[in-house]
Amino acid sequence: MILCANFKANKTRQETRAYMAVVESFVSANDITDTIIVFPPFTALDHDPRNVLIGVQNGYPVQNGAYTGEIALEQLEEFGIKTILIGHSERRHIIGETQEQIAAKFRFFAEEGFAIVYCVGEPLEIREEGNNALMRYIEAQFEGIDLSYPDLIIAYEPVWAIGTGLTPSNRDIELIYGALRAKTKAPLLYGGSVKVDNAGEIMALNNVDGVLVGSASLSAHDFCEMIAQAAELKK
Ligand code: 13P
Repeated sequence: MILCANFKANKTRQETRAYMAVVESFVSANDITDTIIVFPPFTALDHDPRNVLIGVQNGYPVQNGAYTGEIALEQLEEFGIKTILIGHSERRHIIGETQEQIAAKFRFFAEEGFAIVYCVGEPLEIREEGNNALMRYIEAQFEGIDLSYPDLIIAYEPVWAIGTGLTPSNRDIELIYGALRAKTKAPLLYGGSVKVDNAGEIMALNNVDGVLVGSASLSAHDFCEMIAQAAELKK
């Protein structure tokens, strides 16, 4: 199982340190063998990882250069970061990243050997059009993405489920994951309103290999509880 915590623009560097101390102690005390990845904000990337990986929420696909406000490979390498989140819906819909930019980012960081957590997911109006429209929409989000990249993890996060408390039904999740599984051997994560109350049930579903958690991951206690639920599933 793979459990990821996406802090988004939450937590200071100091808060992240305290959080990592709790999660790392929990992982070692409980002999957790699942993969745990935390994506803190840029300011908190300077952490010496013990048993929990640190990933970056975004990166600009260049070594370095005149790209005001961006963070490039050189800065990530300084902190030993080798894991990146690409294609998150907040970057697609709020920041306005296009599929072309996302694919360029993917190619660059794949060439640099990063583990890539690649996010896809449909907005509500697409979901309401039914499963064919939904799969077509996700298909377009795979344009320019090498689905056989060995260090690829795919996170399906319906936009309407992010931060809303809504989740697709278990049947819908299994349907979508069946279709995704036919396309790629990459581990498949679910994201969107994952909480302590539903994480175990979601992780137990067919073809679900883990979760990408936003708001509920901000509590180290809750995130550890989800890690414990994953360990019990022995998937
Ligand atoms: P929430 O868990 O807050 O719904 O966010 C999900 C998400 O966007 C993780 O990347």
